[in-house]
Amino acid sequence: MRSFCLLISLFSIFTISSHGLNILAILPLSMKSHYAIGNSIVKNLLNAGHNVTSITMFEPEQPINNYRVIHIPDTMNVSGWGDMNPLDYNDIPILLSVVMMPMMGADMINEIMKSEELNEFLERQDENFDVCILEIFTSEALLGIVEKYNCVLIQYTTFDAFIWIDKMTGNESPPSYVPHPFLEYTDNMSFVQRFYNKFFVLIDDFFYNFLHIPWQKFLYRKYFPNAKRTFDEMYRNSSIIFINNHVSHSFPRPHHQTQIEIGGIHVKPAKTFAKRFSRFSRFSNGWCNSIFNGFLYRWH
Ligand SMILES: *[C@@H]1O[C@H](CO)[C@@H](O)[C@H](O)[C@H]1NC(C)=O
Ligand SMILES: *[C@@H]1O[C@H](CO)[C@@H](O)[C@H](O)[C@H]1NC(C)=O
Ligand SMILES: *[C@@H]1O[C@H](CO)[C@@H](O)[C@H](O)[C@H]1NC(C)=O
Ligand SMILES: *[C@@H]1O[C@H](CO)[C@@H](O)[C@H](O)[C@H]1NC(C)=O
Repeated sequence: MRSFCLLISLFSIFTISSHGLNILAILPLSMKSHYAIGNSIVKNLLNAGHNVTSITMFEPEQPINNYRVIHIPDTMNVSGWGDMNPLDYNDIPILLSVVMMPMMGADMINEIMKSEELNEFLERQDENFDVCILEIFTSEALLGIVEKYNCVLIQYTTFDAFIWIDKMTGNESPPSYVPHPFLEYTDNMSFVQRFYNKFFVLIDDFFYNFLHIPWQKFLYRKYFPNAKRTFDEMYRNSSIIFINNHVSHSFPRPHHQTQIEIGGIHVKPAKTFAKRFSRFSRFSNGWCNSIFNGFLYRWH
């Protein structure tokens, strides 16, 4: 009986054939903080045995099997945005940022679509993808790439759900207790904070509806004139939206069932201290070893 079971098991092992998926990941942003999330999704898919083609400006640290990169230019360096130190973004008046975003987005799409490597790739007729992944960050016009492959669409964001995602899925972020991610409020807002939050959401909504989306629609038609499906059809085609949030470090808020929290996906397992640190640690009388949770505390 045992040998019969063994035979059956061996037979099953040799007859099971696993079929990986062919996945296209569009990681348009050339900021490391955005790439960290997209790249972590890609790495997980590669580890699960799928083939991944990424459209990105970043090279993998080392060559990876079943991974291919279609290069696009550094989009941070267009219309002078790139010369700005990322730390200076905090100095931009917050109301100006809702106008700047659509402009940055349009510049980014124009720059990406200039890439010869990408255009050659898009002209090839022998490419097929089962799943396409696209970051939502002023990048809606790139849904035209997804349209070409007739694949299941998965999108992700480096934020929590907010207006860009709500509009796609019909989700709600009530401004009475869901702070806009650009404002540093909690769910416990004073009357004045709530008032400003609502006001800011209205302004954001206005520029999103009357500047950002019409502009992205225009770019979709410009770069993908042969698309069979319209922008609006593609805009609502996401099957899943990964959001960079986790219930353990945010406030209670509504999420549509297609929104899946993946906050922390980019966190790697902790490593032990490097040698020079352990020497420093001895020198420092061992206090370094008592650091909790990977943080360096500073005290006066
Ligand atoms: C994945 O890539 C390998 C090697 O390039 C290829 O043999 C295989 O057919 C690909 N799988 C799919 C699902 O396209
Ligand atoms: C941005 O592009 C200009 C030329 O277009 C180049 O001179 C400059 O070095 C670039 N800056 C960065 C940060 O890449
Ligand atoms: C909300 O904030 C107010 C004022 O800061 C405070 O008195 C109150 O306890 C807070 N409520 C909760 C539930 O944290
Ligand atoms: C996306 O579009 C395709 C083709 O129009 C359709 O078959 C599919 O059901 C749509 N998916 C979603 C989630 O709307």
